Amino acid sequence: MLSQKTIDIIKSTVPVLEVHGTTITTVFYKNLFEAHPELLNVFNHANQKKGRQQTALANTVLAAAKYIDQLETILPAVKQIAQKHRSLAVKAEHYPIVGEHLLGAIKEVLQDSATEEILQAWGEAYGVIANVFISIEKEMYDEASNQVGGWSDFKRFTVVEKVRESEVITSFYLKPSDGDKVPAFLPGQYITVRIEIPGERYLFNRQYSLSDVPGKDYFRISVKKEKPGTSPDGRVSNYLHESIQMGDSIDVTAPAGDFTIDLDKRTPAVFLSGGVGITPFMSMVHAVAEQTPERDVQFIHATDNGHLQPFRMELTELGHKLTNYQLSFVFKNPSEDDKNLPNFEKEGYIDKELLSSIVKPEADYYVCGPVPFMKAIITYLKELGVDTDKIHYEFFGPAIAL
Ligand code: HEM
Repeated sequence: MLSQKTIDIIKSTVPVLEVHGTTITTVFYKNLFEAHPELLNVFNHANQKKGRQQTALANTVLAAAKYIDQLETILPAVKQIAQKHRSLAVKAEHYPIVGEHLLGAIKEVLQDSATEEILQAWGEAYGVIANVFISIEKEMYDEASNQVGGWSDFKRFTVVEKVRESEVITSFYLKPSDGDKVPAFLPGQYITVRIEIPGERYLFNRQYSLSDVPGKDYFRISVKKEKPGTSPDGRVSNYLHESIQMGDSIDVTAPAGDFTIDLDKRTPAVFLSGGVGITPFMSMVHAVAEQTPERDVQFIHATDNGHLQPFRMELTELGHKLTNYQLSFVFKNPSEDDKNLPNFEKEGYIDKELLSSIVKPEADYYVCGPVPFMKAIITYLKELGVDTDKIHYEFFGPAIAL
């Protein structure tokens, strides 16, 4: 238990942290990786370069500071981060290392303002926050390894099939290399793929949504090939597309994540996705088709043109199982041929006008895609009177809102 004095000190330092939070975490990462370069095998180098991870950690530390005497308030956010940590095999023994460098960074940035008393208080508070993460993550590790076919950290899988879904998206079918069963998962969950790229010093980890229904003897991930050189994210996706072939192995963690669909519901389900944001919905819509085929399902996908539209056949064939199913494709730059494709809805975007024609008060809305897409769709849905608890979404990359 923290003393009232420690709590008061922590709360009084929040305004200072709000000013320096991102600088502190930037210094923290620099020092952390200098002292422990092996942790670059765990962290995503692309996120580091873009500064996204720094902001995510800063936000969380601030939130924790604000709620230090009622940490249960931020438990949902902690659980979401813990899912990410579990899927990256973050360990209890990593926490003291992170704590030491976080405190060191607070001292380095705040200099004389960081008195012994303040550092002492933050040391204690970090210990309390870290213990919350460690105990939640322990439960998650136990749960992952106790499942049939489950395991705790990384496990070797073999690529058994590679299928081109569009000009930029390719699916990889993965089976456990030891011939074991594939564990159950919830539609919408993701796995971490860890690969070694020849010539690169550190391992690369990336999360990909599982894009097929649970219960098969494989995992399927569907990866978008980013333009090489335009984004640090492209390093892994290009390697997967070009160098990983059938028969190759990659290491993966057990499925994780809390962006899922309640399959017991009977409310209409509306899936709104942009680009490769379609992948978690492939798993969800297949699962709905298996479990509640009479459920009212509207599936709208937006992409640039017909060549970039993945899963067209697979989505169309779902019409044989789902009895109340509407499928629509929205293309930003359709060719004349694209406009004649079955299920072509309109040229442009999924806009407010389109949404207003389909909004039903009782429906649940699932939204996934690039951040500007998500922001626009969520804003429109709210403006059209949809309750926030009916809008379900997941941002790519580090959670940007707590
Ligand atoms: C991701 C907070 C400890 C490794 C994250 C995210 C947050 C966060 C907010 C972003 C979550 C998301 O992507 O949705 C914290 C806090 C910690 C802590 C508050 C301490 C109390 C650790 C430790 C490690 C670690 C001890 C391991 C050395 C990672 C990694 C990611 C991550 C690898 C994924 C993002 C990336 O690779 O860039 N953490 N974390 N974290 N964390 Fe932590």
